[in-house]
Amino acid sequence: MQHVTLPGTDLKVSQLCHGCWQFNNNTTTVNWDAQPLEVSKSIVDKCFDVGINFFDTAQGYAGSEEVLGECLQGRRQNAVIATKYGFREGVGTPPYSALDIQEAIETALKKLKTTYIDILQIHFPSFVKDKDETITELKRQIGLGKIRYYGVSNYGPKNLREFLAAGAKPVVNQMGYNLLWRSVEDEVLPICKENNISVLAYSTLQQGLLTGKFHKLDDIPEGRRRGKLFKNTEGSNKLARHGQEGAEEEMIVALGKIQEICNKAGVTMSQAAISWLLQQDGVDSVITGASTPQQVVTNSNIVKLSQDVVKQLSEVTEPVKAKIGKTLDQWATPDRCE
Ligand SMILES: NC(=O)c1ccc[n+]([C@@H]2O[C@H](COP(=O)([O-])OP(=O)(O)OC[C@H]3O[C@@H](n4cnc5c(N)ncnc54)[C@H](OP(=O)(O)O)[C@@H]3O)[C@@H](O)[C@H]2O)c1
Repeated sequence: MQHVTLPGTDLKVSQLCHGCWQFNNNTTTVNWDAQPLEVSKSIVDKCFDVGINFFDTAQGYAGSEEVLGECLQGRRQNAVIATKYGFREGVGTPPYSALDIQEAIETALKKLKTTYIDILQIHFPSFVKDKDETITELKRQIGLGKIRYYGVSNYGPKNLREFLAAGAKPVVNQMGYNLLWRSVEDEVLPICKENNISVLAYSTLQQGLLTGKFHKLDDIPEGRRRGKLFKNTEGSNKLARHGQEGAEEEMIVALGKIQEICNKAGVTMSQAAISWLLQQDGVDSVITGASTPQQVVTNSNIVKLSQDVVKQLSEVTEPVKAKIGKTLDQWATPDRCE
């Protein structure tokens, strides 16, 4: 596993970051099956075995911060922890004042059983009540040693420009980015690069689709069909709340072509998905979730793709990118990332 120093920080992180959304203390969620604590623990053990030291969690991932804290007991110093604030009251969470941010940090520290958070991210732009107040509070928290750096997540071009204009210095912007969801490429990546902000890609495997294990749409668990790649239809896709027409046809064609390219290149689809992303300019680390320790081992086997294969993968997914357009938010309409 290669490690990189995140630009503008002294944090040396693995290229693969382990996403802890699936750490739910054995409680089924709309997206993920119940994951017993022992499984999460063996996943974290496996992460360290293969050289992964970077973990991403969130206040909004029910149970995740507590489970991660438990799993890191005795080895917290070997980990880089990124968490996010937001969703304290579900989808209708009101924006955070300085006091709310302080409370979120104190609660996260307790749950994570640690005295500092390496990177605190704002989960969505709507969680900012006032930019100046937020920046002042985040700087104060750095001064107190409670957080080392701060970052953002789901920040579109307008959100980024406005936050930067207010004097913010985020070190990361965590964005949905993978072969099937490439809307960050046109504006978000260039702005981040220009401002020394590393793009932390999430849903690297598009929630399992880019492993090639689902052979037809119906095989995909319903909770993973909520996004805008899938049409919003009653019955087959009733959990979706975006009201859009989806990109299913384009996606199925693209997945078939990706598989053909992988077969010729002698790599698995998940290897191609992870490596293609890591070879994009401005991406230093990519986040993958797992339901088993074996998936961590598989995903950690990172290969270097030839430039030609990278180009072919980009070409065959272009129609999906075109259909999705500028939409950055996979789940909600109106788009929460502006
Ligand atoms: N900032 C945000 O708003 C935001 C949003 C989403 C995610 N994230 C972060 O990004 C992380 C990763 O994204 P994600 O969890 O959405 O999706 P992902 O990493 O694309 O997919 C993870 C899921 O794919 C399956 N999988 C993983 N590796 C596999 C393998 N080698 N073979 C077969 N199946 C495999 C597993 O599910 P099954 O085994 O159950 O199929 C696993 O739970 C999250 O944990 C979270 O930390 C952030």
